[in-house]
Amino acid sequence: MPIIVEPEQSIVPALLGVLPAGSQAVASLERMNAWLAQHQDEYVAVLGPSVPLAEALSVCDQLRTARPTVSVVLVREELSTDVLTEAMHAGARDVVPSHSLDAVSAAVTRAYQLFVALRGPGGVAQTGKVITVWSPKGGVGKTTMAVNLGLALAERGARRVCLVDLDLAFGDVAITMQLFPTHSIEHAIGSENSLDAELLGGLLTRHQDSMMILAAPSHPDVRDRVSPTLVAQVIRTLRETFDFVVIDTAPAVDEQTLTALDETDEIVIVATLDVPTLKNVKVALETLDMLDIAPDHRHLLLNRADDQVGISPDRVEGILGMRPAAKVATSIEVAASTNAGDPIVAKNPHHPSSTAILALAAELAGQDIAAPGSGAAQPGNESESQGRSRRLRRRR
Ligand SMILES: Nc1ncnc2c1ncn2[C@@H]1O[C@H](COP(=O)(O)OP(=O)(O)O)[C@@H](O)[C@H]1O
Ligand SMILES: [Mg+2]
Repeated sequence: MPIIVEPEQSIVPALLGVLPAGSQAVASLERMNAWLAQHQDEYVAVLGPSVPLAEALSVCDQLRTARPTVSVVLVREELSTDVLTEAMHAGARDVVPSHSLDAVSAAVTRAYQLFVALRGPGGVAQTGKVITVWSPKGGVGKTTMAVNLGLALAERGARRVCLVDLDLAFGDVAITMQLFPTHSIEHAIGSENSLDAELLGGLLTRHQDSMMILAAPSHPDVRDRVSPTLVAQVIRTLRETFDFVVIDTAPAVDEQTLTALDETDEIVIVATLDVPTLKNVKVALETLDMLDIAPDHRHLLLNRADDQVGISPDRVEGILGMRPAAKVATSIEVAASTNAGDPIVAKNPHHPSSTAILALAAELAGQDIAAPGSGAAQPGNESESQGRSRRLRRRR
């Protein structure tokens, strides 16, 4: 999917509007390089009009030999003969005027055709990883952790992430991120058999250029019309477009949730240190065992792990038969930043809660994840994680 580099935020929506759903915008060439390192299947980089010409030409020159399957499309305010000649020499595939969005779209289509011709149609197939955050209890921090994990994985645009709100009756992902979606999963009802990336792309809401959200319906009674088939189709379609699909869930063991868990590569189970929660998590784990859902792909996240309630985190392993993969302490900053629509991993990446969440995100992704603000992403051990998800899917 196209990557757009445009430091001037006000221009970005117009550019994204004419490009395929799932296109990604970043604000700097540094972020573009991080993206390209992660996406060997990328076919086009669109350099917006605010990228200085000299820097844009240097990108063309560098990608021409380093990544010949990536076309560079330069969008310029003014097209002079000098600019065209220099761009041609540097190896730009197309130079288009910023006032003609049709020309931008056409250049991207041409880049895609060239990519398919060079690599063959099989070269573009990809399968993203699905991570579901779940707990049989409400109020334990599922939404908080799902939102933060999503942002950690997105790493300010280095990876494509879609956060799906599957708390279908009382979903609060959108409000948590201070977004006001015009569409939700409700608008996919009835399209179970015709769902594709384009239709679904039209239902997503963008969060600060770095992450897409599929919001929950705005009325609780819609829940019953979202069939398990639709849930499965939505997840399968999203994983074709995104690197990671993070799913926030309802505190339930209903059919929709079980379908999501069955489509999932990695499950994050959120627990707190109180007896009712631990009891319910234990029963829920037994249910997953019975259904043979992701036995080797469950990760326990102990939230509010410092609460003094008589059960120490060390006892949790004995009770649940699982070691906590991550522990996040109670912190007013976690709650305050979430309520302000700027979750802790983005607001304060060096906060101990952020460090714990980033480490878990790296474990789930099977690759290094840099704290937002600490420079470029490292391309990591993708083969190991892909191997794991392949193994998991074979099991089904
Ligand atoms: N580690 C934490 N420290 C402080 N507050 C937290 C923490 N985790 C979650 N919260 C707060 O607890 C409340 C419930 O969290 P939420 O993520 O909505 O839970 P769930 O989705 O499981 O119902 C929210 O107000 C949230 O800000
Ligand atoms: Mg929630």
